[in-house]
Amino acid sequence: MTQSDPAMHLGVCYYPEHWPEARWAEDARLMRETGLTRVRIGEFAWSRIEPEPGLFDWGWLDRAVDTLHEAGLGIIMGTPTATPPKWLVDRMPDMIALDREGKPRGFGSRRHYCFSHEGYRAEAARITREVAARYGGHPGVVSWQTDNEYGCHDTVQSFSPAARDAFRAWLEERYGDIARLNEAWGNVFWSMEYRSFEEVELPNLTVTEANPAHWLAFRRFSSDQVVSFNRAQVEILRDLSPGRDITHNAMGFYTGYDHHDLCDDLDVLGWDSYPLGFLEMFRFTEEEKRTYARQGHPDIAAFHHDLYRGCAKGGRWSVLEQQPGPVNWARYNPAPLPGMVKLWTLEAFAHGAEMVSYFRWRQFPKAQEQMHAGLLRPDGNPAPALAEAREAANILSRIDPIAETPKQTAIVFSYESEWITQIQPQGEGYSALWTTFGCYSALRQFGHDIDIVPPTADLDAYSLVVVPCLPIVPEDLTRKLEAFEGQIVIGPRTGSRTEEFAIPDDLPPGPLGELVGGRIILSETLSPRMSGDPVRPGEGRWIDHYEGAAEAEVTDGEGVVISRVSGNVRLLCCWPDKPGLSTVLAAASRDAGLPSECLPEGIRKRTRGDLAFKANYLTGDCAWLSSSDEDLPKGGG
Ligand code: GAL
Repeated sequence: MTQSDPAMHLGVCYYPEHWPEARWAEDARLMRETGLTRVRIGEFAWSRIEPEPGLFDWGWLDRAVDTLHEAGLGIIMGTPTATPPKWLVDRMPDMIALDREGKPRGFGSRRHYCFSHEGYRAEAARITREVAARYGGHPGVVSWQTDNEYGCHDTVQSFSPAARDAFRAWLEERYGDIARLNEAWGNVFWSMEYRSFEEVELPNLTVTEANPAHWLAFRRFSSDQVVSFNRAQVEILRDLSPGRDITHNAMGFYTGYDHHDLCDDLDVLGWDSYPLGFLEMFRFTEEEKRTYARQGHPDIAAFHHDLYRGCAKGGRWSVLEQQPGPVNWARYNPAPLPGMVKLWTLEAFAHGAEMVSYFRWRQFPKAQEQMHAGLLRPDGNPAPALAEAREAANILSRIDPIAETPKQTAIVFSYESEWITQIQPQGEGYSALWTTFGCYSALRQFGHDIDIVPPTADLDAYSLVVVPCLPIVPEDLTRKLEAFEGQIVIGPRTGSRTEEFAIPDDLPPGPLGELVGGRIILSETLSPRMSGDPVRPGEGRWIDHYEGAAEAEVTDGEGVVISRVSGNVRLLCCWPDKPGLSTVLAAASRDAGLPSECLPEGIRKRTRGDLAFKANYLTGDCAWLSSSDEDLPKGGG
């Protein structure tokens, strides 16, 4: 099981504590009959496991674990640290996180803890040890999930005294000497110099913006706190439950901590896929929201599959929560088009998932998520998704799970890139994450098989490498790009900052200057009212002024250079809009010998061995076809 298990699993998130014990065996039987082989339990059950401090009630959970195991389900057991109970918060009130305004994030929902609070860290380790000691050797427990969705509800950063103290210690460890920190951050500016690490405060509550280097250090620190919090649990689980995979569930369009770092300690990275909620809540156009309201934008799920596969050690990943019907947390919460639950499920396996697990088994008629659908309705009868899960299970039983996807296109992404563009956008909406998504979406519309990789990845086997926005370029990546023989596209702000958030001495793109044959001597951002372009109403512009030898290749209607080319390298000289981006990426794809024409609206594909999974996001149809087969899916599976 620490070895990759070749079978593809379907699973479900189950909360036995919500339902009468008399129903558990029937639930387990129905799960198996549907074709499910995995069940995730326990991640919010602390108040039932330990109702009073030090007093454990294991009986119900023992029986639930046995019932599920006896039915033939492999159990993914969660550590319950996302929901510390009331008695614990009352005993240790300063374990509560403080928000950016310094307000406490009180009890009464979840994720109310501060990652830096030593007392809470000890409690989290204690309950993890208890649960792991109880179930670590149980033959039914095949895997562990640490906590639940680190960062959900904006909870990675805490501005508490515990966080401040831990931040100071982190800074001392990183810089050693306060003079080095002052120099690195440029604290001579505005007389911000410190005499000791004890003088450094958190970067919130300043009169105007804090030093961006201060923010970046705080973002790195906050991410490291998540990683070390997680590592403490992993060490306990490895010790008390050897041979089981350890996973965690990441979220959609979420960059609050460095997932590459977290994955150093995990066997499998999971993520929670809610395509309809994400479409409604994130940056999509009104037209996309209308067209794909019941399907989700065709690239939302796939983008995360390819991103998290690239984060995960050995590329092992799964969907730990799959939307089965309306959710409760978006502005509006439609039901999926018939066929979409099956399509989302099969598409995840086409991208290499080991498991897709639906959230949740049965809609719970009380509390915060009473409007969130499950595979069963609140009355225990099947909801529409149950039949689609069954159909997916049937199809999967006929597919070869180990077939490889050939390497075509790599997109390089780092988490700190998004931190930098959030800290210093310089114009509204410029984001490393969203330009990465834009590149991904454009290339996927050409039909490329894409890996989203960290800057440390080996790039040799690809034909095309796109670096959408990577302000800090590690030395090693520079060398790899200089030696790369395929096509390269470099996006805006790449190489524009040093490790400590300064403009490089030789100006952007810093270490990539030679590669792009010149440098950026000025960056400006124009408000929408200055652009005067009728095809881009309401959008501003980012324009980089280039000096050097690369020739202008694509120019827009206003005479602004969108891209320049020098040998096998294209440099985007502005933050491109969709058509501009598509034009530049099509040219690079052509030169790389890869497809460069858009598939019809709503159609997407992904290769696996000799087969291609093809999906029609307009109709909800999907099919596995031979990879040379041009027929587009109309129905069936
Ligand atoms: C996830 C979370 C689950 C549940 C779900 C609802 O973010 O991990 O516990 O709240 O959303 O869609």
